[in-house]
Amino acid sequence: MATTTNHTQPHSLLSIFTPCTQEQRQQNFETYWDFSQKHAGKIYEQDRDLENKRNKREEFKANPVRSKKPLPDLDAFYRNNVELVDDPKTLDQKTLLMTCIYKFARHELNGIKGAWDTVPAVDKARDIKDKISRVHLAEEFCHVRLFTEMLHTFHLENIEFPPLGPIETKVYEIFPHFPESLMSPPAFVTELMGMNFYIQLDEKICEILDDEPEARDRLRELLHEIMVDECAHIGQRRNFMGPIGVWFSKVMIKPIFKMFTRDIPEIAILFDVDRLITDAHAFDYSTISPRILERSWVPSYCRA
Ligand SMILES: [Fe+2]
Ligand SMILES: [Fe+2]
Repeated sequence: MATTTNHTQPHSLLSIFTPCTQEQRQQNFETYWDFSQKHAGKIYEQDRDLENKRNKREEFKANPVRSKKPLPDLDAFYRNNVELVDDPKTLDQKTLLMTCIYKFARHELNGIKGAWDTVPAVDKARDIKDKISRVHLAEEFCHVRLFTEMLHTFHLENIEFPPLGPIETKVYEIFPHFPESLMSPPAFVTELMGMNFYIQLDEKICEILDDEPEARDRLRELLHEIMVDECAHIGQRRNFMGPIGVWFSKVMIKPIFKMFTRDIPEIAILFDVDRLITDAHAFDYSTISPRILERSWVPSYCRA
C-alpha cells in the first residue's frame, strides 16, 4: 500500500512561509470560514463537537475493526502510556506506537481545554477570527476522539487522559490569554509540527502494522480524517501572521520540536526527528497526499 508521503509528487503549491498582504489575509479568513462551515457542519457547543465529524465517527463505530493480533502485553501499554517507565528496548514496536499515539492525544486534549474557555461560542463571536478559532478547537476535540478510536482498534479500551504536570498545565492555561501577535507563531508551529508528525506516523503505521492489514487500514483512515483538518489548520494559523510573525515562527521550529520530543520520548525512538524539522522548514504541501489535499484548504498565496 502506498504511504501518504510522495516527495516527487508535483504540486503547484508554494512554501507556507510565502509573504502575503494584509488584504490577502483578510480574504483568506473569509474563504477559510466558508470552507470550515461546509467541512465541519453544525457546531455542538455543549459537546465541543461538530456535525460532520460526529457522523463520520458514527460510521466508524457502526463498522468496528479490532486487531486480530492484540498487543503482546497489554499491561506494558498501561504501564508506559502516561510516562515511559520501562526501558524502551524491552518494548515491542506496536506497543511503542500505541503509547506514542496516546501521549500525542493527551497533549492535544490538555492543550485545547484551556483555550476552549477563552474563545467565545460561535454565536457570540466578536469577529470571523473568533468563529474560525472556535470551530478549529472543536475539530481538535474531535481528533482526540479519533485517536481514542485508534487505541480501541488495538483493544485498548481503558483510555483516560489525566492532566499534564503542573508546569505544563499552567503554560497551557496562560497561553490562550497572550495577545494574538505573540500567540500566533507558536500556535502555527505546533500545527506544522502536528502535520509532519502525522506524515511520519502514517508511514510507521504502514511499516509496524504490516501484519494486520485490516487494523492498519482502519488506523490510517482515522488518521487521514485528522490530517485533512490539520492540513487546513496550517494555512489558517499561518494566515494570522504578518512578516514578523512568519520570521519568528521559523526561529521557533527547532526549539518547539525539540521540547515536544523530550515530552514524548517515543517520537525520537520511532521517528526521524531531523526530518521532522527539515520538512517543517521546507513545508510547501508537496509531502501531503493529493487525496488529503483535495479535501482540505490552502491559502491563496500558497497557490502558484
Ligand atoms: Fe489536531
Ligand atoms: Fe490542528
